[in-house]
Amino acid sequence: MEEKKAIGLLDSGVGGLTLVKELNRLLPGEDIVYFGDTARMPYGAKEPEAVRSFATEIIEFLAATQDIKLLIVACNTATAVGLGYYQDRFPFPVLGVLEPGVQAALDKSRSRRIGVIGTEATIASKAYPNAILARDKEAKVFAKACPLFVLLVENQLTDTPEAYRIAESYLAPLKGQGIDTLILGCTHYPLMEHVLAAVMGEGVALVNSAQYTALAARDVLRAQGLLNSAQEGRRRFFVSGDPRNFEQIGKSLLGYDVKAFRVML
Ligand code: DGL
Repeated sequence: MEEKKAIGLLDSGVGGLTLVKELNRLLPGEDIVYFGDTARMPYGAKEPEAVRSFATEIIEFLAATQDIKLLIVACNTATAVGLGYYQDRFPFPVLGVLEPGVQAALDKSRSRRIGVIGTEATIASKAYPNAILARDKEAKVFAKACPLFVLLVENQLTDTPEAYRIAESYLAPLKGQGIDTLILGCTHYPLMEHVLAAVMGEGVALVNSAQYTALAARDVLRAQGLLNSAQEGRRRFFVSGDPRNFEQIGKSLLGYDVKAFRVML
């Protein structure tokens, strides 16, 4: 009964819930187990080795305590610094959020002038420009780290004048480059998409990689005959810090009660 096993996801906090939302919509029968490493967030300000070892620890926890058929690294930072590393270490398929977003951006962009925003670690890794240029040498990629965005989202401050001011200041250099497509290269950013859309204006398409990663997950499961045809899957959530904020944001994003269990790794 391999198909009855769950899809595991990890992120530093609530960001990966944007992918849970897409999975619930696209694959409602799938069981989901999610780990938000809220005690150690933000990942984006940490060294790549530290993020890699946190992510590995979480995957080991999920593999040991839950029945996993697929693991999605629902965090761009952890994907950018270590996807191949995790793929080499675990027996189940491990998907990241970077490649699906890159492909979607290339499909959308007419001008081939593509912006990418993400955490400091993601932008420093150059994983996005490398992946885009490997597919299209003519593309021009403009990247900008936006470290405060994760804190605005985690602290539920996205509807404040400060959020708009910070976004204006981070995004001004990208607007100046005349991009037509902007990759939200952090799973937290779709939670402030309204702010980003208002600041960038109508001429720029925003790419939420969560939507494309959910499609990629469906393709992997379908190819392996592992799609779960149940009516409604179970959803379990674990956090490493205080669950309250996580549960609040989770409920408002997902539209159902989110109960998160605190786990010390
Ligand atoms: N949501 C994560 C990402 O996609 C990490 C944010 C953070 O903890 O800095 O990069």
